[in-house]
Amino acid sequence: MRKNIIVTGGAGYIGSHTVVELAAQGYTPIIIDNFCNSEKAVIKRIEAITGEKTQVFEGNCTDKQFMTDVFAHTNPVGVIHFAAYKAVGESVNKPLDYYYNNVVSLLVLLEVMKETHCNQLVFSSSCTVYGTPEKLPVTEQSPTQKAISPYGNTKQIAEDIIKDQVVAHSGLSAVALRYFNPIGAHPSSLIGELPLGIPSNLVPFVTQTAAGWRKELTIFGNNYNTPDGTNIRDYIHVVDLAKAHVKTLEYLNGKNNFYDYINVGTGKGTSVLEVVNTFEKVSGQKLNYKIGARRAGDVEQIYASVDKSKDVLNWKTALTVEDALRDAWNWQKTLPKP
Ligand code: UD1
Repeated sequence: MRKNIIVTGGAGYIGSHTVVELAAQGYTPIIIDNFCNSEKAVIKRIEAITGEKTQVFEGNCTDKQFMTDVFAHTNPVGVIHFAAYKAVGESVNKPLDYYYNNVVSLLVLLEVMKETHCNQLVFSSSCTVYGTPEKLPVTEQSPTQKAISPYGNTKQIAEDIIKDQVVAHSGLSAVALRYFNPIGAHPSSLIGELPLGIPSNLVPFVTQTAAGWRKELTIFGNNYNTPDGTNIRDYIHVVDLAKAHVKTLEYLNGKNNFYDYINVGTGKGTSVLEVVNTFEKVSGQKLNYKIGARRAGDVEQIYASVDKSKDVLNWKTALTVEDALRDAWNWQKTLPKP
């Protein structure tokens, strides 16, 4: 029997790719989304990839009655909770929106899960919980640090809430996946990242510059203590990341009152300049860029230890930064210039 899995934020960037992988692995993904940062057309594109109809419920995860109705109607065995605001800079200007949306949605979700005996949860967390790490690669034993943005703080608070609820909701098992930097798009070019307005993340800014939507990329600082002076991150292909969620559901199977957190990255650090150079190579495009000042809040370098994800999830990445940049470019080329 196929298992129903609720995917909140399932029309979003990581959510849509995860819906595709769930369907490929024999689950029935059910999307909850309020389309505040995604397009309804994404659903048809997901269906074109999976060859299946996808159930979609439009509404807010903060709306208890709505959530209760969806759970009663679909009887899910588990939830992958992506729905959240995610712009770091915006969160500084709108902290209450971020705390309300990201925290209240989780509270409502956990209440409804308890009331309906839905016992498996995969939560979208972020490597931002590690702040500036003392040692690299970052293992799950590395201490978390006080978040520098309200967005980052919502991820830390959410992890604590889930950990506490696992004690109180008998049967609940949950994992927080701490993502490093997701990039790329589905190789079909039917789904990908759709940032609204001027992107703050590197790769959409790179592809939009190459496509002529932006004049030039600014590299935020080249005087860091790294081999080429630019920041180092762990860029993971969104399809690999999506697959990690399916593996996490398998990991949760049969566990009760269980909470864990796992890094999801490639284990390899790549500098901003390496991203730019690799993009030029795979796309054949010359990228217009300049070196600018450091961006406030940027961590010099961070990349994941992937030992735990290999051990407990039996998962590792299969795709490279080259694959991700090629797929991001192919996706970009399908988008009409705004
Ligand atoms: C940021 C957030 C992280 C969040 C992630 C996904 C911070 C400190 N971290 O990660 O919590 O989960 O986004 O949304 O904000 N860069 C440029 N020029 C640009 C854009 C970026 O040089 O125009 C550089 C940055 O300085 C950084 C790298 O590219 O070194 C990656 O930046 P970005 O894609 O914004 O991700 P993070 O800042 O790593």
